[in-house]
Amino acid sequence: MLKDGHGRVVDYLRISVTQRCNFRCIYCMPEKPFSWVPKEELLSYEDMFKFVKIAIDKGVNKIRITGGEPLLREDLHLFIQMIYDYKNDIDLCLTTNGYLVRQTAQLLKNSGLKRINISLDSLKKETTKKISQKDVLDEVLKGIKKAIDVGLGVKINTVPLKDINDSEILDILEFCENLDIPVRFIEYMENSFASTDIVGCKAEEILATISTKYNYKKLPRVGSSPAIYYKLESGYQFGIIEPYEDDFCESCNRMRLTAEGLLIPCLYFEDALSIKQTVKEDDTDGTIAVLENVLLNKPEKNRWTKNENEKQNETSSRAFYETGG
Ligand code: 5AD
Ligand code: SF4
Repeated sequence: MLKDGHGRVVDYLRISVTQRCNFRCIYCMPEKPFSWVPKEELLSYEDMFKFVKIAIDKGVNKIRITGGEPLLREDLHLFIQMIYDYKNDIDLCLTTNGYLVRQTAQLLKNSGLKRINISLDSLKKETTKKISQKDVLDEVLKGIKKAIDVGLGVKINTVPLKDINDSEILDILEFCENLDIPVRFIEYMENSFASTDIVGCKAEEILATISTKYNYKKLPRVGSSPAIYYKLESGYQFGIIEPYEDDFCESCNRMRLTAEGLLIPCLYFEDALSIKQTVKEDDTDGTIAVLENVLLNKPEKNRWTKNENEKQNETSSRAFYETGG
């Protein structure tokens, strides 16, 4: 079992297989200038898999593939199949912007993928275009339907932003209830790559909007889920992710591996150590030493804050498109 320096069990690995993305979401990406890490710097699937095996052998039981946009990396299904073949009861999931899901969902499912989280910030063409800076709504909606049809577990991620898509909170909630898939509203997390003029909606504001039409009940946090779930009278459950809630960090069971082989203990901070060298050299003991070192120094808490006066100082300089959120 892997434990961090604060006694938390770490059994969830998120792997960002590429930092590239075909969207330019205003809460995530700088507009330009911009240069990607060159392909030669990326870990191969074989090298990533060496780390995956170590992590699984040490007790990791959930793996999520992220990006950038993970479906831009060639042959992703082969990497998923490698993990599935090693341990088929791993909770194997993917987070995607949805654009390539229509084309790939069946293959991913056949390769052992169990669940997929798809971003959907708006049901309006123009608003979607404003947020992702690309005309993508139709294809994303087709991707959501396809993922459901092939039998993947589907969840929707929505980041409500003031005066951009906050008027659609109820529409998105109802859209997801009709499809019988959970939506999680994610509070915008300030970071230095995002567009500077956006303001995220707070959990209270999201709940206030929902309460104009529905009664809901707050449910206890389940396990290490970053979301707190609420239940409507119909029985439908939706979630809210608030990164500064105390138990968000207390229950953190996550570590992140980037496409270049950096092992990152916390989404907020710059700290990271590379496993690139040791996996390339098949130095298992060396890789385990890096892993243990990273976990020992996993920060207790992130520094996102609810306090408006402190916000300026509490902006993460970790790019979401590197860590996959
Ligand atoms: N704040 C909150 N959520 C974000 N995401 C990307 N950037 C941010 C941010 N700055 C979300 C995406 C996606 C998930 C991977 O993270 O919408 O659903
Ligand atoms: Fe791409 Fe996801 Fe970032 Fe949007 S949030 S630009 S889809 S990595």
